[in-house]
Amino acid sequence: MEFKVIFIMCFILFRKLVPVEMGEIQKMAANSPPFNGNSIPDGAVNKKLAANTPLFNGNATDGAVEENYNLDVENEYRSKTEELIAARSKYGSVNEMPYIELKNGQKMPVLAVGTALLEPKLIKHIIRAAIDLGYRAIDVAFIYGTERPVGEAIREKILDGTVRREDLFIMSKLWSTFHYPELVEKACRASLETMGLDYFDLYMIHNPMSFKEGGDPIPTIANVLQYSDYEYLDAWFAMEKLVHKGLVKGIGLSNFNSSQVSRVNEKGSIKPLVNQVECHPYLNQERLITFCKTYDVAISCFGTLGSPGTPVDYKSPGVKPVIGDPIITTMAAGMHITPAQMLIRYQLERGHNVVVKASSAAHLWENIQSLNCRLTQNEVEALHLLNKNKRNFSFIGMGDTHKNYPFKDSF
Ligand SMILES: *[C@@H]1O[C@H](CO)[C@@H](O)[C@H](O)[C@H]1NC(C)=O
Ligand SMILES: *[C@@H]1O[C@H](CO)[C@@H](O)[C@H](O)[C@H]1NC(C)=O
Ligand SMILES: *[C@@H]1O[C@H](CO)[C@@H](O)[C@H](O)[C@H]1NC(C)=O
Repeated sequence: MEFKVIFIMCFILFRKLVPVEMGEIQKMAANSPPFNGNSIPDGAVNKKLAANTPLFNGNATDGAVEENYNLDVENEYRSKTEELIAARSKYGSVNEMPYIELKNGQKMPVLAVGTALLEPKLIKHIIRAAIDLGYRAIDVAFIYGTERPVGEAIREKILDGTVRREDLFIMSKLWSTFHYPELVEKACRASLETMGLDYFDLYMIHNPMSFKEGGDPIPTIANVLQYSDYEYLDAWFAMEKLVHKGLVKGIGLSNFNSSQVSRVNEKGSIKPLVNQVECHPYLNQERLITFCKTYDVAISCFGTLGSPGTPVDYKSPGVKPVIGDPIITTMAAGMHITPAQMLIRYQLERGHNVVVKASSAAHLWENIQSLNCRLTQNEVEALHLLNKNKRNFSFIGMGDTHKNYPFKDSF
């Protein structure tokens, strides 16, 4: 009897103390190869991810087209590359990127380039072109598997004198398998090392669900997702130490609902600076945003265009993302701007940071031109009316049975 108790206690302790083989994380990080996009070990992950990641191809008129073009066609790839290399001489650059002042005094540029699911062959060109055109914030995450090429492109742009490190705002996210406190710093250091950086400007908890620690970012047994014994608050306390150690300048959250934001805010000795959430007219997040304001938590938006680039298997047939909404296209046409510019501007008028992804120089430029248009209060109100509280990134099959799944209730 006694023996059994000791056995169970040892088992629990062992699980608590040695949840992972540390080598695995380093391996995962080291294995994020620049150009094949396979840095996430499980092929299924990328697909799942596709359904849950901010995607945006920047084409204001039709998302499906760009997603289907075949980059294996060497010519297409070559002309895209050439266009990206020539971006600055063709379009020029935005000299002054406005910023949001975070409550710790950090200046967060209002536009950030997204890096999830970019065509691997083009990533470095896209990031270099984005910096050439005037983007100053870059949004990455361990789970996107793009840290290495993005980091390389950033360092090249610093080396060639286009920007200094301190001109850039680089944000990344702690993945769900690293909430165990000891893993937080390891994961952060591994990401920094993969990117060749000394620090992140902002490091966020990618989402509030904690997955079983280990080498598999989506750990399943017989198709059942395995959860961790730890939770986001454990991760948060460890995130605070990253600030003290100078590994990150600021810390924040992503995909947290209002109760979770307030819990971190109450328990944390460092308060979250940002909550990065899906946000577009179909999911305008008014209540969450109002709530976050009371804690001075800034909003960063993804899925701003309603994710026209999400792979076809994840779309309801016949249903169009918000960028194709007739009200959007008509309003934008009347204002002589593109629907993409209107949707980005909508968020800028609300004081948000916007993460936008594009895979061509034309789209990068189109998106950054949202800095040069304005929406009136009435136009903003008109867009608010499109709200349906419908989200595209609902983490179905990716933690929707977790106790901290954020989207069960209203906001
Ligand atoms: C976006 O897609 C449309 C529709 O196929 C295409 O005609 C257009 O050239 C693309 N826009 C840009 C800026 O590349
Ligand atoms: C996003 O959600 C809207 C409904 O709000 C839907 O019409 C659209 O098809 C969704 N987009 C994707 C890519 O699933
Ligand atoms: C936020 O998520 C938690 C965990 O699932 C849930 O208990 C809570 O009710 C949610 N809060 C809101 C306001 O939706």
